[in-house]
Amino acid sequence: MSRHAAITGIGSYLPETVLTNAELERMVDTSDEWITTRTGIKERRLAGDGEATSHLGARAGVRALKDAGLAADTIDLLVVGTSSADHVFPSAACLIQDQLGLTCSAHDVNAACTSFIYALQTGVTAIESGRAQRVLVIGADTLSRFTDFTDRGTCILFGDGAGAVVLEASDEPGVMGIVMGSDGSGKDMLTIPAGGSAMPVTPEALAAHEQFIKMVGTDVFKFALKIIPAVTTQALEASDMTIDDLDWLIPHQANQRIITAAADRLGMSEDQVISNVEYTGNTSSGSIPLALDDLYTSGRITRGDTLAFVGFGAGLTWGAAIVRWTKTTPNKEAL
Ligand code: ACO
Repeated sequence: MSRHAAITGIGSYLPETVLTNAELERMVDTSDEWITTRTGIKERRLAGDGEATSHLGARAGVRALKDAGLAADTIDLLVVGTSSADHVFPSAACLIQDQLGLTCSAHDVNAACTSFIYALQTGVTAIESGRAQRVLVIGADTLSRFTDFTDRGTCILFGDGAGAVVLEASDEPGVMGIVMGSDGSGKDMLTIPAGGSAMPVTPEALAAHEQFIKMVGTDVFKFALKIIPAVTTQALEASDMTIDDLDWLIPHQANQRIITAAADRLGMSEDQVISNVEYTGNTSSGSIPLALDDLYTSGRITRGDTLAFVGFGAGLTWGAAIVRWTKTTPNKEAL
């Protein structure tokens, strides 16, 4: 009998502080009308003082564990998708391991906004190979700490948040085909120049705002429109499925125009496409599991449904995963 990885727990967390378009209007030369029309975003959340990526991730993780009905010490591996870990090292995963009281090995995976798909693949592979029985996969980012709130081209887009899934070994298919890709020649399209080994944070770098996200928005937009349908189709093919088998599409929540146009190209109807970008903004690695938790807690998803997760981001990176839903109802009473 083949060994599969199934999603048995889901959790998410958004920090409390809300940043609205009206507040951004007072910070940069923009308008609620421009932001809403160009991105679909109305508000986003910001991590509070003393709150960093590990804290967001840990809160999502504890909710996913409760939903799965599992104690922390039963987890064999923790994988955290993030590009905004609390520190260069130790990893966010080690900090989350400590906060949750896990006893397993823990590491980060960084593929920018595609990190959750990459982390999921790591967890699925560990289970399918028999090296792990239960894996906690978290996507968490706090990109507000890397956002230039004087740059209207980027500061309207990003928010903070985290989502998590528990994977468990299963006899029936859960996570099916996963396809991932990278193209480092697109490295300058979306980058945080300073803070790494290429450009340490110096007074000169800070003065030039090099510690913040730099983005060629229109190029990223075109890349996203091309790659979302392509990689979703490839992941369906890898699962011996076609678009007609898909019940739900959960794309990376970057921009409503990207979500709508990519879904149109795939021939998915609007009510099959999950979007929460209006009130989360782009939470990077948190976005897909946050949207999944929205779908899950809304009660619309049923056992046997087929979902596609699809992400893209800096690197450039992209990835899609096809998931057969094996859960029944949420176990949220402990929250
Ligand atoms: N408010 C008002 N005007 C603005 C704003 C703003 N916030 N931002 C830009 N403009 C202006 C520009 O200056 C430009 O003015 P001009 O015509 O006088 O030069 C005009 O609006 C149009 O600018 P564009 O950049 O062409 O606008 P576009 O429609 O492409 O929207 C956006 C910009 C929203 C950034 C879009 O390109 C986008 O969403 N790109 C994808 C970004 C993305 O997904 N990034 C995350 C990737 S995931 C990761 O790894 C982090």
